[in-house]
Amino acid sequence: MFGPEPGRDPGENPMQLDHYRLVREAEDRNQEFRELFKDVEYESEGVLYSEMAFMSLAVSQFEPLRILEAGRGRGQSTELLAKLFADMPVLSVECDQDSENEAVARRRLAGYSNIDCRIGDAQVLLPETSKAGDIVLIDGPSGWPGMKLLFKLLASRKFDLAFIHDVNIGTPYRAFLEKHLPSTNFSDDPEFAEICHGLDEKAKDHLPSANTYEATQGKFGYGLSLACLPYDARINYNSLGRKAGMASLKGSLTRGFGKRS
Ligand SMILES: C[S@@+](CC[C@H](N)C(=O)[O-])C[C@H]1O[C@@H](n2cnc3c(N)ncnc32)[C@H](O)[C@@H]1O
Repeated sequence: MFGPEPGRDPGENPMQLDHYRLVREAEDRNQEFRELFKDVEYESEGVLYSEMAFMSLAVSQFEPLRILEAGRGRGQSTELLAKLFADMPVLSVECDQDSENEAVARRRLAGYSNIDCRIGDAQVLLPETSKAGDIVLIDGPSGWPGMKLLFKLLASRKFDLAFIHDVNIGTPYRAFLEKHLPSTNFSDDPEFAEICHGLDEKAKDHLPSANTYEATQGKFGYGLSLACLPYDARINYNSLGRKAGMASLKGSLTRGFGKRS
């Protein structure tokens, strides 16, 4: 256990996600999600439909004022955010202005009035623009830089809930979350996957074979995996950010030595 963030009351009850409620509502709202997602095209590496449903169900247990997104890509997850959180502002940050992806994203998002698309580095823009009541979805930067951003935002004490994508079993990020933050919730939870994998019909062929529903039935590991972290005042997120930085450094040194040998 780490010491608390300075300035936040460590006696404060940790925010918790009600897993049973989430699973029950996944069942109840399945048809609603199906309808909502039916005209949204899938893009390779995009957040899965079931993962976005997971996010929506988790967020509905809190009272956010705004959704932030890091890593817009071709705008598929952004479009799903626009639909799922139609009555809320969504601020989406992408650093790659010049790729054709940005033009694709702008086209597909043109009809949504709740989306604010910004160009910039999420590592800089999100800490600068975030305010109390925000919830964040990180899908770029990926890997350790994404993990560092996650902890930086949670350390700011403005977020009740934060999500990070691509943290499936076998990645060092998953191992890190499971070790240091065992109350993290994952979209590849088998109970949730059983109910919601059917939402991913259009994305099915993009999944690694080890992560298809058929390969993971009854076990954790379905899909690309989205982690949901409720804020916990007992955790020192700055310390976790430093540990993630060290892990990242270790990883690059190991890769460097590997190359020379
Ligand atoms: C996997 S794609 C995003 C896919 C998108 N979220 C979806 O589901 O459709 C990752 C994106 O993150 C962007 N990215 C990487 N680092 C970033 C940073 N520091 N700030 C903003 N965007 C970043 C990349 O340029 C890329 O477009």
